[in-house]
Amino acid sequence: MSYQTQYKNSIEHPDQFWAEAAAQLDWTRPWDLVLDDSDPPFYEWFSGGEINTCFNALDRHCEAGRGSQAALIYDSPVTGQIRTYSYDELTDQVARFAGVLREYGVGQGDRVIVYMPMIPEAVISMLACARIGAIHSVVFGGFAAKELATRVVDAGASLIISASCGIEGARVIPYLPLLEEALSLAKVPDLQRILVSRPQLPIEELHPCAVLWEQAMESAEPVDCVPVAATDPIYILYTSGTTGEPKGVVRPNGGHAVALKWTMDHIYNVKPGEVYWAASDIGWVVGHSYIVYAPLLHGCTTLLYEGKPVGTPDASAFWRVIEQHKVKCLFTAPTAFRAIRREDPEGKLLHQHDISSLDTLFLAGERCDPDTLHWAEKQLEVPVIDHWWQTESGWAMAGNPMGIEPLPVKAGSPTVPVPGYNICVLDDEGNDVTPGESGNIVVKLPLPPGTLPTLWGNRQRYYDTYLSRFEGYYLTGDAGVLDEAGYLWVMSRIDDVINVAGHRLSTGSLEEALATHPMVAECAVIGVEDKLKGEMPLGFVVLNAGVDVNQADLKKELMLAVRSQVGPIATPRDILVVGRLPKTRSGKILRGTMRKIADGQTYTTPATIEDPAVLQEIASALDA
Ligand code: COA
Ligand code: AMP
Repeated sequence: MSYQTQYKNSIEHPDQFWAEAAAQLDWTRPWDLVLDDSDPPFYEWFSGGEINTCFNALDRHCEAGRGSQAALIYDSPVTGQIRTYSYDELTDQVARFAGVLREYGVGQGDRVIVYMPMIPEAVISMLACARIGAIHSVVFGGFAAKELATRVVDAGASLIISASCGIEGARVIPYLPLLEEALSLAKVPDLQRILVSRPQLPIEELHPCAVLWEQAMESAEPVDCVPVAATDPIYILYTSGTTGEPKGVVRPNGGHAVALKWTMDHIYNVKPGEVYWAASDIGWVVGHSYIVYAPLLHGCTTLLYEGKPVGTPDASAFWRVIEQHKVKCLFTAPTAFRAIRREDPEGKLLHQHDISSLDTLFLAGERCDPDTLHWAEKQLEVPVIDHWWQTESGWAMAGNPMGIEPLPVKAGSPTVPVPGYNICVLDDEGNDVTPGESGNIVVKLPLPPGTLPTLWGNRQRYYDTYLSRFEGYYLTGDAGVLDEAGYLWVMSRIDDVINVAGHRLSTGSLEEALATHPMVAECAVIGVEDKLKGEMPLGFVVLNAGVDVNQADLKKELMLAVRSQVGPIATPRDILVVGRLPKTRSGKILRGTMRKIADGQTYTTPATIEDPAVLQEIASALDA
């Protein structure tokens, strides 16, 4: 069936389309309704149905004779280890760790925070939660204590799983000081902890509320999968919004499993038994969906890579992994390829490896510039597919459906709407724009299975953020164009979200960190173009009247404030002291105009500006 036919079916007959996809999984109770549209604009999929995601990701494959196949390959150049878990072994570990969670009082619906580096125990923790119907919330290791604390509080966590350290290149990053600070900030110093003591930084003194992973596992009894409602959350994943307060994206069990399994065939064109590698981090949505759940739901071998594209040991790292493990499909962020290209522009290291197993490279997480796309195509000699999605969707909203019908690639476009997503572009008044014109990218409701049905504990915020702007549509927060041929072009965000090396950050949270400095009267953070990371934060601060300070020292303190309150991934490129910030007469900071000035683009002075002269002052500060 052609892409057009499948797409049309998905939009016109969603019940039939998704029921067929759902039949690929094992259900403990069939659904009453495929699409429950009784409470618009809120929709649910597979209501009445019961399923266990962990069963579908593990036990089902063991029962079907896949038990001795590799399920998970842990490849860690930073520790010099490669460890393979068969489906049987992974199931056993997960079932036993689920037993540990039970022993420590975790039950169905309880929230468990996973603050872990890229080690197998992180994947085991996630699947063990899913096995007993507990809800995991993974927090990216590069976030600081304050960010972790916010998530612990919002999720109402009953237990946290962590490790003694992460490893960033050659550096060992201790996790426990951050964890203790976070639990104290969250005012839950007695929260139960399960900790992996890594040989690179063994835990010497154990907190009274902590138990070591190994110790807990010694006496653990394996437990079986618990059927959960298809509409029950499998996880909460916090993501950045306009304000500094993260949003808890809720993912329902049933729709998530159905959609992800479907994508493996139809988007990624991968078969059970093949090796799939998402070079991302389990702390991000790409890691959730394509390191953990989708490849396992599909019976593939998934790769957990604890390393970087460069420096572990060099720019050949990805090629070595592809060759060694016969990777069929690689998924990463364009930044990773820009980093490799910077170190090895001619691809000399690549040509020392046999990467013939590789079929396709998929890129996402940030806009893919045509230059990077063409470079990757030329070096790898395989299709390079940009696809567009976000934490909220959990899987691609626009992409090239390689397993349905590969469409011609247009560099700079993530191709076409994926079946299930009725993507439209609206002007600010909510009218459809003509093809080729730019506007707000929205998705006509209902969103397909697996997408967020709400925000954790805050349905009103879900409605206000995503559904209230244009009635009957989901607001993606991106602006762009649908061209005459139906290709989507994603141009920019319409809010204050920035994307640094594929990591989504809110300028609001960086501003909150800068504002904590006692000398700062007000501040603004914008995202500016960066050759390697796509975007980088740039800060502007206005100091309290009369303060006399050494600017270099101040800058160091401000950088530290961001690193310690948001995390090292948010480190600004620079922080400039200015006399005042450009604002509208109603007091709104003109971040968009500041960004254009910083990027050297032409800009028009907004009619609502309070004092046009401030723009010149900003330009001078940037020049200096
Ligand atoms: N735990 C602790 N610290 C972390 C971290 C983690 N999981 N991830 C990043 N950091 C730290 C880094 O050590 C670095 O700290 P430093 O400023 O003290 O040196 C800082 O955060 C910035 O890290 P990063 O943005 O990764 O920049 P980098 O210069 O170290 O590496 C790249 C640049 C391009 C190699 C790297 O950004 C990369 O691999 N990007 C691909 C991104 C990706 O896969 N995104 C997933 C979305 S699909
Ligand atoms: P995240 O929720 O971290 O996955 O970030 C989602 C945001 O990243 C999207 O809303 C886009 O702004 C951006 N993004 C992700 N993938 C792409 C892509 N392929 N092209 C352009 N922007 C992208």
